[in-house]
Amino acid sequence: MHVASLTIRNLDEDIKQNLRERAAQNGHSMEEEMRLILASLDQQDTSLPKPASVDVPRLNPFSSEVLDGKQILLIISGGIAAYKTLDLIRRLRERGAKVRPIMTQSAQEFITPLSVGALTADHVYTELFSREDEQDVGHIRLARECDMIVVAPITANLMAKMAHGRADDLASTVLLATDKPVLIAPAMNPHMWHNKATQRNVKTLREDGIHFIGPEAGEMAESGEAGKGRLSETMSIIAKMIDILDDRPKPLLGKTAIVTSGPTHEPIDPVRYIANRSSGKQGHAIAAALAELGASVKLISGPVNIPDPVGVDVIKIERAEEMLDTALQLLPCDIAVMVAAVADWRVAGAAGEKIKKKKGQSVPTFDLVENPDILKTVGHHAKRPALVVGFAAETQNLIDNATAKLKRKGADMIVANDVSPETGIMGGDRNRVRIVGHDGVDAWPDLSKDDVAMRLGKLISQKLAEIVV
Ligand code: C5P
Repeated sequence: MHVASLTIRNLDEDIKQNLRERAAQNGHSMEEEMRLILASLDQQDTSLPKPASVDVPRLNPFSSEVLDGKQILLIISGGIAAYKTLDLIRRLRERGAKVRPIMTQSAQEFITPLSVGALTADHVYTELFSREDEQDVGHIRLARECDMIVVAPITANLMAKMAHGRADDLASTVLLATDKPVLIAPAMNPHMWHNKATQRNVKTLREDGIHFIGPEAGEMAESGEAGKGRLSETMSIIAKMIDILDDRPKPLLGKTAIVTSGPTHEPIDPVRYIANRSSGKQGHAIAAALAELGASVKLISGPVNIPDPVGVDVIKIERAEEMLDTALQLLPCDIAVMVAAVADWRVAGAAGEKIKKKKGQSVPTFDLVENPDILKTVGHHAKRPALVVGFAAETQNLIDNATAKLKRKGADMIVANDVSPETGIMGGDRNRVRIVGHDGVDAWPDLSKDDVAMRLGKLISQKLAEIVV
């Protein structure tokens, strides 16, 4: 496929918006999302050579907020991988971070201060003894007036200087003067990385509390070279930065949760099944939100076409009976959130072989039997979790039906939503729910499914704290 001339800027506004939403949902940049879409199209076209697999780490949709408003001091040292740092700057700024750049002398041989300055929208600091810069900010303020320092790429030389406490240029002086967390992303020739001297420095720096990301194994920019030495992917660097900077409260730390999500497929024969329109988006977002709040989460997912959430253990099943067995095996736990649209019925005695259409014969008929109710079973179980949350997807009498479910299924809370086709909730990205509890009903505004998930996660944390007290 010829993609050389395709740029996101030239796409139609609605396509761009769609791409933006997809990228945000999958924790990718827009360019990476487009690359993945194109790669998957390419893979469908068997007449073309397969592209190398695109392994882009994903971010939890909730975690980008950690970077919002943060001041990052980015040191760029000399290496061919410096070109990737330009992308890092854009992705950081996209997430609301302010990036103040320092470039070493040799970095300027690979990329220009002009590009770095344009992308950071800040002054590019290069000289230790620049009278202008020293009067403006000064190296000590540079080292201190930030939330963290990232060195990407860091060369073997700058690592050696750091490990030995040398300060002979602006970058090494700032690194010596700082009291902020420092993350370094090495990139160098594999022989240089494996050299005993470098490895001694790596050990020293780790002991000094310096955070590392990479290097990764793979092909090097120099032709014919491969091994460990590649700069980590932009998103891996960002994920590590979020890890280091994240000081948000984790109210569910030490708690265990199970979440069911997606539809179930109930076989008619080996190739046909009964299913429903559930996308799994809401259940997966809830699993991610609970994990983000510190819980250890097992997600029992029916067949869906969305990526696994980050930081969650995913168990894939097809049928309602498998979903129940898995849920019961995972008891005891502290929290159960049953979001799956479990098929109410399954075909009694599904056929072992594909049912054939035969001329002159009447159409087949199927007996349906009721599926086990997972929420109800867990809600009344001897090992019932401290907090059991169910969903009610209704097209009429929303609150009455949800209230009846609350009692019948032994839940503490039912999240009720109107899934009439005109609401676009089933399969869509937004949701409007009411929280039906034993103490009344709370109507939430129209929100993204991610926002519903995080708000529900926080409510669950609060309720659980009340139970435990
Ligand atoms: O009865 P209804 O299907 O409307 O109940 C919805 C709630 O019950 C959801 O939380 C759903 O995940 C759960 N449920 C279940 N097992 C079933 C049917 C529904 O866990 N067989």
